[in-house]
Amino acid sequence: MIEAELAGLVGPVPEAMIYAAKGGKALRAFLALETARLHGVSPQGAAHAAAAIECIHAYSLIHDDLPCMDDDDLRRGQPTVHKRWDEATAVLAGDALQALAFELLGRLECADAAKVDLVLTLAQAAGVRGMVGGQAADIAAETADVPLTLDQIIALQAGKTGALISWAALVGPRMVRADQAALRIYGDCLGLAFQIADDVLDVTGDAVLVGKAVGKDAAAGKATFVSLLGLDGAKRRAEDLVTQACDALSGYGDDAETLKDAARFVTARTH
Ligand code: IPE
Ligand code: IPE
Ligand code: MG
Ligand code: MG
Ligand code: MG
Repeated sequence: MIEAELAGLVGPVPEAMIYAAKGGKALRAFLALETARLHGVSPQGAAHAAAAIECIHAYSLIHDDLPCMDDDDLRRGQPTVHKRWDEATAVLAGDALQALAFELLGRLECADAAKVDLVLTLAQAAGVRGMVGGQAADIAAETADVPLTLDQIIALQAGKTGALISWAALVGPRMVRADQAALRIYGDCLGLAFQIADDVLDVTGDAVLVGKAVGKDAAAGKATFVSLLGLDGAKRRAEDLVTQACDALSGYGDDAETLKDAARFVTARTH
């Protein structure tokens, strides 16, 4: 999708954008497409929303890996963008992916009110009240004098990871202006469970399977559920959140089985 959007463009920035958008699990795109299906929207109808959230996600990862942030050399089993090209290309490819996300949403075919809502809420989820705010708290926590409390870690993770996942899970009801309550609980619980699983994998994961360096969070002094609750406590918390996420979908009946499977995958995954 993103490759098609950039067809004909040459140079390091478009090449890096395509490179960064490839090879992930595409969980956020899946959530957008699946919640759209649940609300009667075809995959083609929701494709731009799915691509938009993957653009924002890819941009967040490019910047997250920069030397001034987490300083990582490996992502999805490949050199990170600033290693493959250089830092300027990484910053610009991230910037351009963010802009492309909003361009794609602008071309979504749905009622104008739904489109405005999707644009507004994606801006909020990606911005200082969402992903960027969470990333800032994550970096600040590395050098904080006192460890963060559980509530502070929940707020941090809800921003840095939860906001984009929650947005993806609400694409379906937002596109058709349907009730969002059940998928809001599902997305919020899933987002938190997802970041806890990421933090657990940093401790227990195999770098080859995970496709990125492991064992870095404790060394960097990151504030995570694992740092506060320990490995078993963090795993239990993630499982509880997955149960809550699945329970929230009871009103959709069997039609929501795929979303429930996705929630279970989040804590069972090895990558
Ligand atoms: C990694 O996200 C970064 C976090 C928000 C924890 P994913 O684990 O979804 O990364 P990809 O897209 O599958 O590589
Ligand atoms: C990154 O969290 C979240 C965002 C990119 C917004 P992490 O720093 O834990 O992600 P990984 O472990 O590098 O994938
Ligand atoms: Mg980080
Ligand atoms: Mg990182
Ligand atoms: Mg991590």
